Amino acid sequence: MRVGVLTGGGDCPGLNAVIRAIVRKGVQEYGYDFTGFRDGWRGPLENDTVRLDIPAVRGILPRGGTILGSSRTNPLKVENGIRRIKENLAELEVQALIAIGGEDTLGVAARLSDEHGVPCVGVPKTIDNDLSATDYTFGFDTAVGIATEAIDRLHTTAESHMRVLVCEVMGRHAGWIALHSGLAGGANVILIPEQRFDVEQVCAWVTSRFRASYAPIVVVAEGAMPKDGDMVLKDQSLDSFGHVRLSGVGEWLAKEIEKRTGKEARTTVLGHVQRGGTPSAFDRWLATRFGLHAIDCVRDGDFGTMVALRGTDIVRVPIADATARLKTVDPTLYEEVGVFFG
Ligand code: F6P
Repeated sequence: MRVGVLTGGGDCPGLNAVIRAIVRKGVQEYGYDFTGFRDGWRGPLENDTVRLDIPAVRGILPRGGTILGSSRTNPLKVENGIRRIKENLAELEVQALIAIGGEDTLGVAARLSDEHGVPCVGVPKTIDNDLSATDYTFGFDTAVGIATEAIDRLHTTAESHMRVLVCEVMGRHAGWIALHSGLAGGANVILIPEQRFDVEQVCAWVTSRFRASYAPIVVVAEGAMPKDGDMVLKDQSLDSFGHVRLSGVGEWLAKEIEKRTGKEARTTVLGHVQRGGTPSAFDRWLATRFGLHAIDCVRDGDFGTMVALRGTDIVRVPIADATARLKTVDPTLYEEVGVFFG
């Protein structure tokens, strides 16, 4: 049996750990051969492959990024995209495909599997942790760790200058990174995409923090939006899945705070730092277990499924269940952390 593997969408710490686990178990226990596809769906679309065997996965467990490369190529938007993928897989004699990705990459895998008979298994990844049907995606824990460390560092410099520091973190539709890192880092305001924010209220929290003789830290997810107004964007361009490139709300908010409170406010945008570097131990553990279970799905012929974390168990769910609806922050959870605002 020859199995194809690809990684799509934004890269994420732990991708290499999944690839390693798939190949190690697939070769050692089941005697499978592997074909790596380069740059997400671009690989099978353009027949761009990479050698994937045990020597190729040696030493990659702690490495960030992905040895296969990634892209946001959407084959559903390419003329004859599905037909080309099917032809290329047939030519390479690839009998099963493991797609490691988030909402977009897995959305394509679900369609290929359910509507076009391509045997796909999905592995959920995203630092945003916004995929339904799994308690956690790998990459999230690393991103939260990086953001928390940054917030800790911002506290000391903010207090030395008694200025407001706004920290913009990733989180397109879901505020999980902002919520977890903001809580762990002791932020005074946390703003998430799920709840529109009132700038006046943010300024009131900032002022109250100064009154207590501390400098406020405001953590804002890149997808957070003010109550009266649209999403603040620096760049209006769209990727091939139709997403805008986010970022800009942090800078905008700092200017508003400065204007309304008279206090100096500066912004730090963490950006891709949150996705880079070595995965945390938890992410290596989760990614490795996902990989081991994904290759078992292939062995069982259980296609159209995605591996998922439920409590401490790895379970199988239809890929479509994970992509039909995003997992966002529940209002009651957000309310719970509100006691630390201001
Ligand atoms: O989906 C994960 C993510 O990191 C989002 O939080 C962010 O909006 C997006 O990817 C950025 O993608 P890119 O690196 O392609 O600009």
